[in-house]
Amino acid sequence: MRTWRFDTPAQTLVLASDGGVPWAVHWGARLPDDEDLQALARADRPDVTGGMIDALPPLTLCPLARDSFPGQPGLVAWRDGALLHPHLRLTEADAAHITVRDEGLGVGLRFVFAVEGDVIAARTVLEADVPVMLHWLAAPVLPAPQQAERLIGVSGRWCGEFQLDELPWTPGIHEREARGGRSGHDYPPFAIFPETGATNTSGTAFAMHYAWSGGHRMLAEELPDGRRQIQWGHASGSYREGTRFETAPLLLCRSDEGLNGCAIAFQRHIRDRVVDWPAPERPRPVHYNCWEAVYFDHDLAVLKDIAARAAALGAERFVLDDGWFGRRDDDTSSLGDWQVDRRKYPDGLTPLIAHVQGMGMSFGLWVEPEMVNLDSDLARAHPDWILGPADQVEGRHQRVLDLSREDVRAHLFGCIDAILRDHDIDYLKWDHNRLLPMPDAAQTDGVYRLLDQLRQAHPQVEIESCASGGGRIDAGILRHTQRVWLSDSNDALERLRIQHDAALFLPGAITGSHVGPRRCHTSGRVLDIRFRAWVAAQRHFGMEMDPRELTEDEAAVLTRVTAWWKSNRGWLFSADILRLDSTDPAVIAEEQLARDGTRFVVFAGRAAASARIVPRPLRLTRLDPSARYRVELINRADAPHLSRGHPALKEGPLTLSGTYLMDHGLTLPWSFPETIWVIEGERL
Ligand code: GLA
Repeated sequence: MRTWRFDTPAQTLVLASDGGVPWAVHWGARLPDDEDLQALARADRPDVTGGMIDALPPLTLCPLARDSFPGQPGLVAWRDGALLHPHLRLTEADAAHITVRDEGLGVGLRFVFAVEGDVIAARTVLEADVPVMLHWLAAPVLPAPQQAERLIGVSGRWCGEFQLDELPWTPGIHEREARGGRSGHDYPPFAIFPETGATNTSGTAFAMHYAWSGGHRMLAEELPDGRRQIQWGHASGSYREGTRFETAPLLLCRSDEGLNGCAIAFQRHIRDRVVDWPAPERPRPVHYNCWEAVYFDHDLAVLKDIAARAAALGAERFVLDDGWFGRRDDDTSSLGDWQVDRRKYPDGLTPLIAHVQGMGMSFGLWVEPEMVNLDSDLARAHPDWILGPADQVEGRHQRVLDLSREDVRAHLFGCIDAILRDHDIDYLKWDHNRLLPMPDAAQTDGVYRLLDQLRQAHPQVEIESCASGGGRIDAGILRHTQRVWLSDSNDALERLRIQHDAALFLPGAITGSHVGPRRCHTSGRVLDIRFRAWVAAQRHFGMEMDPRELTEDEAAVLTRVTAWWKSNRGWLFSADILRLDSTDPAVIAEEQLARDGTRFVVFAGRAAASARIVPRPLRLTRLDPSARYRVELINRADAPHLSRGHPALKEGPLTLSGTYLMDHGLTLPWSFPETIWVIEGERL
């Protein structure tokens, strides 16, 4: 028996092979270094009984139909019109690569594992001597926990990203397939597999993320015998005929400190290992984005006025959104024509950029290079560059360019490169507002290549991944970008929830969040500036309202919160976001804890009125039980007049032990719905 083990501080994955495709003997707690892996492989062998074949086919890294596997296979491929049923035998293996091959068929699989900090990354490569049609290839298949009653999937929609769906484990398959050609609003490629009883702060949980920006599929299956398997891969039918195919890396983590253990493993992984920061020493600048202020109506004098006001509020980067190119007066035309609209900018963008820089801000620009409107010079010149059938249904009046083509990529590189060479721009908001006509892995590979090429030519330019808000958020796109536009919803109430759930996977440093207009443009809700500002301050802070609408009070609050964010962003950049367990469903709360544990900030949002009168104490987490902390409710002046009592935090700072804060919890003042308390903590 060959065995392998992969360890992170909180997990061990043990694989074994008896000459065929390896299987996971153990994916769970970190095992002692001297664990006898041969014994584990034997100990794991299941019994058989009546009504079944005489040995249970192993749940391998790629379960195959030819082995009488009773569930979904990890490989579905054809050659010459016949399904492939390879008999895969171990041929080569080292510490990180395991190869199995069917020499007769000339088909092999390679499983590649890498330990990256708290995360294990696993992918499958298929190599064939002659071309095959691949329908489905799973990244290394792993068993799901047996001590679990439910799993947590992620779904969403425009302005409602990252919704968590708790589903019971039942016999059969739960399958999610994002076929829109993006990681998607619909089913972003994340899932959590908690053991029974796990909460945010305690218990055992496993989590997976398929690091791919194109269409993808997950299936979680309870087999007839009770075992459970989880498969991830590109959406079925994504690949074109070929001899070499590769899944994206499947990122694995496990925690015995609740969902937060997995959350911080992903947060740290993405921030510290996935994202390539152009200037890691440069603090994240406060953004101003003009989209919800002016939309397509660009007037240089107005934009200059807005820029001056944004700078006065504390903004450090001005992002000019959609509407600056072609003849783009609405969303029906001009995508593809990446030349400055001389009707709106007679002297080009330089006068606006100079003005913005004169105000002490840098300049960012919106682009959507993968897309084209039929009403554009580009579509008229190159109708053959468009992906999908001519009679396809459009999305936002636009179509997708075929980025698998070298000439298309070269053209787009030329356009964006020229803009970046001709202007002093340090940031692109890179949008993607239309679903693909069908999933297509070559398209996603093409986008990665284009982004790579641009990053090499302009390494100082940061890129934000936007897709109608959060339609393309994953660790694949984040290899080439540095920020995600989490949602088009600038409604702080919605954002509070979206940010909370997205924090299971995403660090604050890359998650954009803006203070929106008083009356939210995507929900119609009117929210107080205090709530809007503090919710944006939970992540990479920015503003997006028309600053001309601000009252004196609103401007003062915004200036204050912006200043707070600037003076804290240094440590917040690398802080862990910990979701707090709140027994009051009206309260959505998180603790951001400095990596060295010396300070924290708690944001306790009140999404609705509570069922009971007195706020339930809010328990903190991951503090040093024996240390003492100075805690201060920094926005206590925001207490409403109906908070008539004298909770100590309303009067001033308190010194309390970690044990008390984690066991009893914080006693916060009563507050209105749609408000948020901000509590700073410092370890003494
Ligand atoms: C998308 C984005 C928005 C904005 C518009 C511009 O919807 O998500 O933030 O940039 O495009 O057209």
